Amino acid sequence: MLKQRLSRKILLGSVLPLLLSGMLVTQATPANALDTVYAKFNKAGELVRPVHYREWIFVGSPVTPKDMNDGKPAFPEFHNVYIDPASWRYWKRTGKFRDGTIFVLEMVSVGDKKSSSGNGYFQGEFSGVAAAVKSKKRFKDKINNWAYFGFGDKPTAVAQADDACAACHQANAADDMVFSQHYPVLRAAKPGEKPKRRGIGQGSMDLERGQ
Ligand code: HEC
Repeated sequence: MLKQRLSRKILLGSVLPLLLSGMLVTQATPANALDTVYAKFNKAGELVRPVHYREWIFVGSPVTPKDMNDGKPAFPEFHNVYIDPASWRYWKRTGKFRDGTIFVLEMVSVGDKKSSSGNGYFQGEFSGVAAAVKSKKRFKDKINNWAYFGFGDKPTAVAQADDACAACHQANAADDMVFSQHYPVLRAAKPGEKPKRRGIGQGSMDLERGQ
């Protein structure tokens, strides 16, 4: 009995970790990762508010402060922008946004305007989430298949009409409706993009391109 229990313990002790590590390796392979879909929709076709986006790739933080926009910026005030990891890898390889790309824009208020580093705008509190998803299948009638969502405090959101969001993106954004002109992280990783300035940050640009 004791012997039996012991051998079971040994078996579990030696085989389980192997099995588990095997599972981890399979999950981490790039081929699988490229297929991962990060934009989740409910049965009604509403986008479910993503939860783990702070673990995605952070591409930039434009800020439209109240005191420079008559107290009423369209998106108050910092916009922390993230892209899902699979679409980031695709962008680095191709310079295009794959079908299924999702961006999350997390709004944060301006908090302090002074710190020990100087005067400026420092992030205060979270104030809302918006997102953009590209999908040929779901949004075949939308401009370039991009749909835009604003969450407020709700867990799901419906796609906005094109003239509410997409029209401005189409008219003004540099890369397939995405404002890459405001995201040096995206520009640095785009294949064939010439850096405007060498020097600071150049090392990481080469890194992003895998050089
Ligand atoms: C008048 C122009 C304009 C309108 C209308 C607009 N946006 Fe944007 N959007 C921008 C600009 C400029 C940026 C990038 C700089 C920034 O965040 O201020 C941006 C960035 C974004 C991003 C980050 C990814 C990207 O494309 O750069 C998301 C997500 C987004 N907007 C969602 C929305 C949603 C949802 C709506 C409609 C409710 C909307 N936008 C309406 C101008 C606009």
